[in-house]
Amino acid sequence: MKRPGTKIFLDSGDPEETKTVLKALGWLDGQTTNPTLIAKSPEAAARKEQGQPFTNEELLEFYQHVVQKISHLIPQGSVSIETYADRTTTAADMLNQARQFNAWIPNAHIKFPTTAEGLKAAQQALAEGIRVNMTLVFSQAQAAAVYAATAGAKRGDVFLSPFIGRLDDIGQNGIELIRNIQRMYFGGDGHVMVLAASIRSIAPLQSLLGLKVDITTAPAKVLLAWAGGKDASAALTQLKSIPDEALSLNADWQSFDLHHELTDKGIAKFSEDWNSLLQAAVK
Ligand code: G3P
Repeated sequence: MKRPGTKIFLDSGDPEETKTVLKALGWLDGQTTNPTLIAKSPEAAARKEQGQPFTNEELLEFYQHVVQKISHLIPQGSVSIETYADRTTTAADMLNQARQFNAWIPNAHIKFPTTAEGLKAAQQALAEGIRVNMTLVFSQAQAAAVYAATAGAKRGDVFLSPFIGRLDDIGQNGIELIRNIQRMYFGGDGHVMVLAASIRSIAPLQSLLGLKVDITTAPAKVLLAWAGGKDASAALTQLKSIPDEALSLNADWQSFDLHHELTDKGIAKFSEDWNSLLQAAVK
């Protein structure tokens, strides 16, 4: 299969899927994980099913084991590891996790939520030589803030992950957000790479390849269908247009409105899925 200009990542917490997709495609440029995907990976899901929760230490060991397996399979690629965050998690806490996770493998990008605390943690992480992936992006203002907060970083050290499918879920055209961000970033120095995520079918994948987005991540099911030459047969849904905003990439990052309802919901779901694997804390 011919490699597109866009880098292709697998969105999965299961190294067996990495092997399957590698075999079908012949290559993979990276892999993204998150707490929900780790909870869905077969071993974790089985333990949950059997009522055998992890201790916090065991769960981190399990996550480490998973990303190390993935890293061995794609040593030239990037592997995203996500920090745990809920509404109360501070930048200092996320940064400590980032330092720990980054030592697991040589090819990590550490994921932080695109919130004020997440961005503070990411700035310090970058200063310490840790590559970052800002996740749960749903607005152009969040994308502008990530650019401004990480100014001066090397291209490849900062990924920005807008979640297309979740915008589509609320009737908004996620692909249009990507186009707006690309247009806005076109006026910059290119240090932030756009990693389009939350791709549930071939249709958005093909649109993203057409847009020459820097990177896209998709589940095994979608990548295997694409590798098999399946065509996009997207049902035409009416999605609300997301208007382009005139935002200055040179503004102070703290001046941007970072709030988005889907970012809050995404953080709540990730922390819930992670905590569902853990023994209830003893009060
Ligand atoms: O990479 C982000 C992705 O895992 C989220 O996908 O389908 O839960 O919106 P989804």
